[in-house]
Amino acid sequence: MEQKRYGHFDDENREYVITDPKTPWPWINYLGNEDFFSLISNTAGGYSFYKDAKFRRITRYRYNNVPMDNGGRYFYINDGGTVWNPGWKPCKTPLDFYECRHGMSYTRITGRKNGVEASVLFFVPLKKWAEVQKLTLTNQSKEVKQLKLFSFEEWCLWNAATDMENFQRNFSTGEVEIENSTIYHKTEYRERRNHYAFYHVNTEIQGYDTDRETFVGLYNEFANPEAVMEGKPRNSHAHGWSPIASHYIEVTLQPGESKDFIFLLGYIENAQDEKFQAPQVINKQKAHALIAELDTTEKVDKAFQELCQYWDALLNIYKVNTGNPKLDRMVNIWNQYQCMVTFNFSRSASFFESGIGRGMGFRDSNQDLVGFVHQIPSRARQRIIDIASTQFPDGGCYHQYQPLTKRGNNDIGGGFNDDPCWLIFGTVAYIKETGDFSILDEMVPFDNQPGSEVTLFEHLKVSMDHVINNLGPHMLPLIGRADWNDCLNLNCFSWDPNESFQTTENVSEGTKAESLMIAGLFVVTAKDYVALCQKIGKTEEAARMQQAVDAMIDAVKKHGWDGEWYLRAYDFYGRKIGSNECDEAKIFIESQGWCTMAEIGAEDGMVAKSLDSCKKYLECEHGMVLNNPAFTKYIYEYGEISSYPEGYKENAGIFCHNNPWVIIGECLAGRGNDAWSHYAKILPSYVEEKYQTLHKVEPYVNCQMVAGKDAFRPGEGKNSWLTGTAAWMWYTVSEFILGIKPDYDGIRIDPCLPETAGDYTVQRKFRDAQYEITIHPNGQQKGVKQITLDGQPVQGTVIPYSAGKHTVEVTM
Ligand code: GLC
Ligand code: GLC
Repeated sequence: MEQKRYGHFDDENREYVITDPKTPWPWINYLGNEDFFSLISNTAGGYSFYKDAKFRRITRYRYNNVPMDNGGRYFYINDGGTVWNPGWKPCKTPLDFYECRHGMSYTRITGRKNGVEASVLFFVPLKKWAEVQKLTLTNQSKEVKQLKLFSFEEWCLWNAATDMENFQRNFSTGEVEIENSTIYHKTEYRERRNHYAFYHVNTEIQGYDTDRETFVGLYNEFANPEAVMEGKPRNSHAHGWSPIASHYIEVTLQPGESKDFIFLLGYIENAQDEKFQAPQVINKQKAHALIAELDTTEKVDKAFQELCQYWDALLNIYKVNTGNPKLDRMVNIWNQYQCMVTFNFSRSASFFESGIGRGMGFRDSNQDLVGFVHQIPSRARQRIIDIASTQFPDGGCYHQYQPLTKRGNNDIGGGFNDDPCWLIFGTVAYIKETGDFSILDEMVPFDNQPGSEVTLFEHLKVSMDHVINNLGPHMLPLIGRADWNDCLNLNCFSWDPNESFQTTENVSEGTKAESLMIAGLFVVTAKDYVALCQKIGKTEEAARMQQAVDAMIDAVKKHGWDGEWYLRAYDFYGRKIGSNECDEAKIFIESQGWCTMAEIGAEDGMVAKSLDSCKKYLECEHGMVLNNPAFTKYIYEYGEISSYPEGYKENAGIFCHNNPWVIIGECLAGRGNDAWSHYAKILPSYVEEKYQTLHKVEPYVNCQMVAGKDAFRPGEGKNSWLTGTAAWMWYTVSEFILGIKPDYDGIRIDPCLPETAGDYTVQRKFRDAQYEITIHPNGQQKGVKQITLDGQPVQGTVIPYSAGKHTVEVTM
């Protein structure tokens, strides 16, 4: 059935165009690429922060609010008593025209009412700690318009967690300063903070407000602030309570006339001895300088052009032309864009992640690297060092760290036994992309302790050893608190609803809980580690690890195979999980994905059987579910996984993150038709076409979870944007389906395609080379017959790297 559509892709401009503000859920975008970030919805809701959404929140936002998505940067236009906003909210005055264009790190929202058009371009200029809001007002009517324009931002008192709870203090600490057209927020600057924020407009103002209750009215809403409704600013000065920033501007527009206003939300840090210019008066020098860089239309347009060029360059690194717009737009634009966003934010701040829950995940960030490393390798390099610095000497590691401090997060601690392996995954991807082996010699501390530094290579070694040193009775890896599946908590045993499943280990002494997911992950990453050791001449270490790999493969074949698929785990008591013998959850996706990627038992038909079982038991119209059948009751021995109702999250939801694992397994097995059909099911552009209403969340990016076949509403998406799905979709399509795989000495070409695939071309910038690769599949799903590089035949499937421009022809 055709579903209502709320927007469409504009590939030419690399935008998603939303044409109805009442989307089934706020459809958001991200602004900023480093340091200063904003979230912005299609109605201009959202907030800004500096580096860390928890510790350095600049503007306030209320999650899970009524109405939805209230709070953001709002422009109110009072046109002779009719009050409206260009983004429809918060007034929700019906507009004559509405459009929101989400682009690469910018959003443009346009509204039209009674002959006035208001168009706002939101972006964070490169290397600047500020959000620009360029508002263009145009009088499209035949009469002179006298408009009263009010801007609005609400300050957060910096720490987003305490901002939401410690009211006995918060209501007395708020402080602002007002200087001409700039409103400064300086709460806590008098004591230990050396930063403040400001909100500026590049024109003279006729009034302002900085106290929320005075502006809005205590019992009013953002939809009808008293000052705006009456068309009269109060010139209020906040002392405590809730400081805000609102400019008031009287605008006269002749018929046909258009005027720009540049609003700037900025963030400033001052050195300890330069904090004040006079007692109690903040030093505004840096703010003045920042404002001066962005105070005219010309300067702002130039900054915007630079941002667009930055994205041109990033998206020119890998470009495919298959002639299928649904595939090309995801590969060339949106998947890569989402990879940058997940690299920047890990799982911290979205409309489902409140920005105070978690920082950067050890495993998450390593996986995110794989989608990002080709874009800005130098940032990927730094990230690897930061992550490795939160490891412990025995190879274990903090599960998360805070981006502001880069220190491991004690609230969650460690003990997730898959974590260490991911460091190999991320590092190998970096070296293959760049050829930069020197990263292995970087001196990196343990737990950020000065004096504890060893080489990064040593970190990789202890990571592998951590698995080997923590094997259970079947010689399979002990699971610890959990493996990739945070919710499979086999040593938790909790009856207390106030205990966290992730941090509670009520029993673990004598545990027999082992993970087949880690077993497969270990084989895949340890094989990479062996190859790396050989590459750098550490042959003994390579041999040592090869033995461990062989032993793990043996253990999986002996104790990890259930007849038609791989087992998932052994529980605390050594009983099978994910077996035909179980009542529920007889089969799980994670071990099928990792053990088929590891090709364990391929020669005995295990891989093919496992992949067939995924199709038979896990696949449905919207993708593959995590387990089947779903758990219908809480199982004390299994933990959080069985806490979810059927079809959601880790209990038989379509956890998109892990679908690509099976797809890669399919690709390695050469089953291109199956790989493609799994892939297209969760590819946003295909979902966009069919299911905008059902799917609910943004149709231009992947979400973490789509409700599975056992759910009340199969196909409904949740938790969009910040998910490992982004990097895995990218890795899968770029390297395994389209088959362009960076390797130490060049690019390996080995596509796996549906038999319907036609010829296609990939432009790939790789180190200092530029390759134009044309593939002729000839109806084959897999198998490269011949490759020529600049007209000369190449032996094997790796085109050797050399700088310069090259043409490659591939026949399958
Ligand atoms: C979330 C977490 C990730 C975990 C996954 C499965 O995506 O960020 O670390 O692996 O859930 O539980
Ligand atoms: C589940 C969620 C993940 C979260 C974890 C801990 O794994 O999928 O997002 O991190 O639970 O709450």
